[in-house]
This record gives sequence, structure tokens and C-alpha cells, in this order.
Amino acid sequence: MTSKLYKQSIEIILKNQGREGGYLASPSFEPYQYCWFRDSSYIAYAMDLAGQHQSAVRFYNWSANTLNRYSAKLAACINKKQRGETLVKEDFFHCRFHLSGVETPGNWGNHQLDSLGVWLWAYCRHLELNGKKSAAVINQEILFLVRDYLAALWRYPCFDCWEENGEDIHTYTLAAIHAGLASLGKLLEDEESTRISNEIKSYLLIDLVHGGIFKKSQKKNIVDASLISIAVPFSILPADDLLVKQTIDVIVRDLGYRNVGLHRFHGDVYYGGGIWILLSAWLGWYYSESGRTSQALDILRWITAQAAEDGGLPEQLCEDLYSQKECKQWRLKWNEPANPLLWSHAMYILLYLSLEKSGAL
Ligand code: BGC
Repeated sequence: MTSKLYKQSIEIILKNQGREGGYLASPSFEPYQYCWFRDSSYIAYAMDLAGQHQSAVRFYNWSANTLNRYSAKLAACINKKQRGETLVKEDFFHCRFHLSGVETPGNWGNHQLDSLGVWLWAYCRHLELNGKKSAAVINQEILFLVRDYLAALWRYPCFDCWEENGEDIHTYTLAAIHAGLASLGKLLEDEESTRISNEIKSYLLIDLVHGGIFKKSQKKNIVDASLISIAVPFSILPADDLLVKQTIDVIVRDLGYRNVGLHRFHGDVYYGGGIWILLSAWLGWYYSESGRTSQALDILRWITAQAAEDGGLPEQLCEDLYSQKECKQWRLKWNEPANPLLWSHAMYILLYLSLEKSGAL
């Protein structure tokens, strides 16, 4: 299969990496002209796997500078929590930053703990893929600060990975925190990280399972496409575990589109709730990693056909919508959905490389 879109994806990511190392979520969509820790962690992981280590190093240096800049804020938040005081939105680490590494002002659901979880996870993969060495300078103090921040806050509500539901505890968020801390525990042989990650895993398996499947959050007994992460890439349970398989079956049944696409969750209203390219790639990645090659290939082909002339992949396609009216309203507000979305390109790269590794391409 042609590797054109794979190459274009790498070029698009490189082109939209700032001088300081941060990645723009999307260059042409004004509300996304910032660097998100979540999107960027997947992007850096994809770049590492694609052999673009320098790009990943630049991102990790950017993130270390950003975390250093706000280290007093993280420490103050941990102390306040330990004193039993009520935290307010100004206390939390932000989810998105200017490329300069400065917080983005304005009213936004910034408290998103999955961001730092997936960042720790991706950074540990970065070290693994580079023989435990990296030109990125992240000192142990910062890694432990992130650990302590996650340890202090994981039992409390935050916004989910779609920046919604700030009063709930989310399965994907805990999966990302678990993965980050479990990886850090192994990397630094740090018992505290391992202990908390085990606690989170037990909590996930007891409190966030309902009727034989993982549920979106403590308050919502529905699935969310981000639950795929429990198997791929976080490996909290193996891809052929019954709980995982049953969850994926329900995701495909409730959120699937023509066997190749996925909605985020039932009733999504953002742009009317279309088909998210990054989630299609994620499902394909899961299929590829679990030996379901032909289904993964169908998804790769379908995504390839959705790319614009210059290779750009959008955030979502406004198809099979839950609400035409919402779609119209979002278009009036912000025009068409983001394109290119760098996270979509990262997930395409991850699917592509997984299929290549299995010998299917
Ligand atoms: C998504 C987030 C994402 C952000 C930037 C939001 O609409 O819900 O998951 O991090 O866009 O791409």
C-alpha cells in the first residue's frame, strides 16, 4: 500500500512543531493553535516509532521547560490538597499552552489529569525506544512532581479527554494515569509509583466496570471510544481479555460507522457528533495489534481516502451525525472542523506502523 499519506503525516507534524518544540494541535483552526499535552504525547510517541527521535526530543524539552515554569503551581496544588482545602480552577495545571510554554488564558476546562498520565507514559516509551537515553533533559524532580500531583488528585473529578464532564471520574483518565505511573515505577524502580498505579488498576476493575464492560465514567454507564486504550496502547489488560473484547464489541455496535469509523460517545454534540479519524485509526491499531489484520487494513484504506489533496486529515467528518442542528451551530461559530489535526496524523502513523510491523503492508 502506498506510504504517501504516512510520509505526508510526518511532514505535516514537523511543519507544525514550534521553534521551542511544542506541537500545534491544528495550525488552521484558531481555537486549536496551541500545544496540548495529550495530543502532543501521542504525536511524540508516533514520531519516536517513525524514527523521528529529534522531533520527540524537542517536544520533551519543551514539556520539561513548561513543567519547570509551573512547578511551584503544581507543588502548591498538592500542598493545598494535603491540607484538605477546596481546590479551585486556578489551582490546576493547564491542558494546553502557547508554543512559548505559557498557559493559555480564558475560560477552559483545564483540569484534565489524563494529559500528564499519557505524557509520563509516552516519555517512558521514548526512553525505552532510545535505549533508556535521550537528549531531552527532564530531571527526576519533575518526574516525581508529576507523580505526586497525579497521586494527590486521581480520586477526584476532572475534565475528561474530550474536555467535558468536569464533575465526574473517567475511565480513560484513570487508564492514562495508571499507564503513566506504572511505566514510571518500572523506569525508576520507584515503589510509590507502582503502588499507586496498582491502586488505580483495582479501582478501574471494580468501580468502572458495569454489566461485563468498562463504562465511560463513574456516572455514565455508556461506552466511550477512548476505552480502547485499556488494551492499546496502555496494555492494562491484554487485547484478548474478555472484558476488553466485550467492551470493544459494544463500542463498535454503539459507535461504529460502516465498520471503519467511530463516534466518540453516544449523543456527542460537538459539531453534531461526527466520525473521528483518530478514533478510527485507534480501532484499526487495536485490530492490528490483536491480529485482525484485514479489518485494520480496511480502516487504513478508508482513512487514506479521507485525506485532503495536501494530505491533511481532519478531526472529524460531519457524517452520521447525532444532531444536524448542533453541527450547523458549531460551523457558524468556528467554521469547518479542524484540518489538519496533528493527533489524527499521529494515530494514522501508529496504525500504519503497526500494520507494517505485522508484515501486512
Ligand atoms: C478534543 C481534545 C483535544 C483538543 C485538541 C478537543 O476538541 O476534545 O481531546 O485534545 O480538541 O485537539
